[in-house]
Amino acid sequence: MYDGGKIIIGLIIFLALLTFPFYYNIGKVNAKPEPKIDTPEIQKLPVGERKCVESKEFMRGGHMQLLNEWRDSVVRDDKRIYVNSQGKKHNMSLQNECIRCHSNKKDFCDKCHNYMAVKPYCWTCHIEPKEKKS
Ligand code: HEC
Ligand code: HEC
Ligand code: HEC
Repeated sequence: MYDGGKIIIGLIIFLALLTFPFYYNIGKVNAKPEPKIDTPEIQKLPVGERKCVESKEFMRGGHMQLLNEWRDSVVRDDKRIYVNSQGKKHNMSLQNECIRCHSNKKDFCDKCHNYMAVKPYCWTCHIEPKEKKS
């Protein structure tokens, strides 16, 4: 003879413990970061002009290559003006251009990098911004 009810309750508790780490993480560790663009410099731009150096899609996947190109251009060729696909000019500088707009490095660059477990080593030489948010 055995007690079906107790076995079922036992199974439910067992399953709950087994899957706990899974649903405990939902919306926490696995939450996708939303890079914040609420900095004073970006808020100053007219609403239709709140754009990055290139399109958001391009920046999302290509900002590392873009930064590499900028560095090579500045360091090797002393060429410091970047003309984007819209014909708009940008100063090729990590701390004076990217960080001028993205002055919330911790809430922007770092948030995304921590999530993806990448650690750019740039800030041993380049100056980190004073965090600015509006
Ligand atoms: C003129 C201000 C400005 C400059 C300069 C600028 N950004 Fe941006 N950036 C923005 C804005 C505004 C957005 C949001 C664009 C959108 O939503 O269409 C953005 C978006 C991005 C994104 C995508 C974020 C996402 O949600 O996926 C990345 C990555 C990024 N920028 C990195 C950089 C880097 C690296 C540099 C320097 C090479 C740079 N930005 C220079 C204003 C700027
Ligand atoms: C939308 C998410 C996101 C945002 C926002 C973002 N990054 Fe990144 N970044 C990544 C990812 C993902 C990688 C790794 C890509 C790879 O390995 O191919 C990366 C890589 C890099 C690298 C190359 C690092 C290496 O070791 O190869 C640099 C430099 C960099 N990011 C700078 C920045 C700067 C500066 C900002 C803020 C202005 C920024 N990123 C904002 C997602 C982001
Ligand atoms: C060992 C020190 C060092 C490290 C680490 C470093 N840089 Fe630089 N970087 C320099 C120096 C020095 C210059 C030349 C500054 C100039 O001529 O204006 C420079 C110039 C640049 C420039 C163009 C000028 C400017 O004002 O930004 C970019 C873009 C750049 N680096 C990006 C990066 C990125 C992205 C990383 C990380 C992946 C990085 N650097 C890591 C030393 C460093």
